[in-house]
Amino acid sequence: MIVYFNGKYLNEKDCRISPFDRGFLFSDGVYEVIKYTGKKLICFDEHMQRLKTGLNFLGINPELINSFRDICTKLLKSNNLSGKQSVIYIQITRGTANPRTHFYKNNISPTIYANAVPLSPNDVEPQKGMSVILEKDFRWSRCNIKTISLLPAVLARQKAFGQNISEAIWVRNGLIEEGTHTNFFGIKRGIVYTAPLTNYILPGITRRAVIEICKNYDIPVKEKYIRESELKHFDEFFLTSTTLDVTPVIRINSLNIKRKKAGPVTEKIQKEYFDILNSQ
Ligand SMILES: Cc1ncc(COP(=O)(O)O)c(C=O)c1O
Repeated sequence: MIVYFNGKYLNEKDCRISPFDRGFLFSDGVYEVIKYTGKKLICFDEHMQRLKTGLNFLGINPELINSFRDICTKLLKSNNLSGKQSVIYIQITRGTANPRTHFYKNNISPTIYANAVPLSPNDVEPQKGMSVILEKDFRWSRCNIKTISLLPAVLARQKAFGQNISEAIWVRNGLIEEGTHTNFFGIKRGIVYTAPLTNYILPGITRRAVIEICKNYDIPVKEKYIRESELKHFDEFFLTSTTLDVTPVIRINSLNIKRKKAGPVTEKIQKEYFDILNSQ
């Protein structure tokens, strides 16, 4: 695989990251995941805007994103992925500084890494209907920043994986927030509910696209928390993310909630979302 690393396109085997990289030592960095349909990078500008917000939060120069469209295009080409559904991963860390210490000088140059991989059938398989578990949220309180510090997500998904389930949904004070790598939606009597944008959820790019679809098709949306105790009264559930698109949830394991298949509102939103992806 050819990867991008600090201005160069290298064979992954030749990509050497310093043990003093602050991403490795402190998770001092941010990332983005962008979908390529084979024709187009989906919502590229929105992803860059979110990355810019993250870089500003960390105090890293946001101007460096200006070269990223070019990097994505070159990565797709050099990995023979032009025309094929793929996913691009971009990570920026504050850079390398020796000795290891929490504070940093402002003149270190950020480490920029990116790769492109084909979307595998395993990535889209869950779109038929997924099971989830609920997990008490033990993340920090700036979940709106897409930091590379993903240990809570790793532990929660591993716990789910142990039960043959691929997503865990964070719950804080009895309120449903989002998944470890997805936003969560519930539908009750035709109204679509999803958690409001606060510092406790990531402002998902797919979440925003879905809210837009609902508005265009007069499907009422409320950006309002669903209580864990109310879940059993909901008719349908789905998740959104760049790689999972719109994915129905058919089972909430811990609560023994089961739905036979994707409900009609989820199906409508899923269809409209795929139409947008395919038309671009
Ligand atoms: C915690 C979290 N919430 C939601 C999402 C979905 O965001 P997007 O639709 O931009 O992929 C992600 C994606 O990685 C995530 O990590």
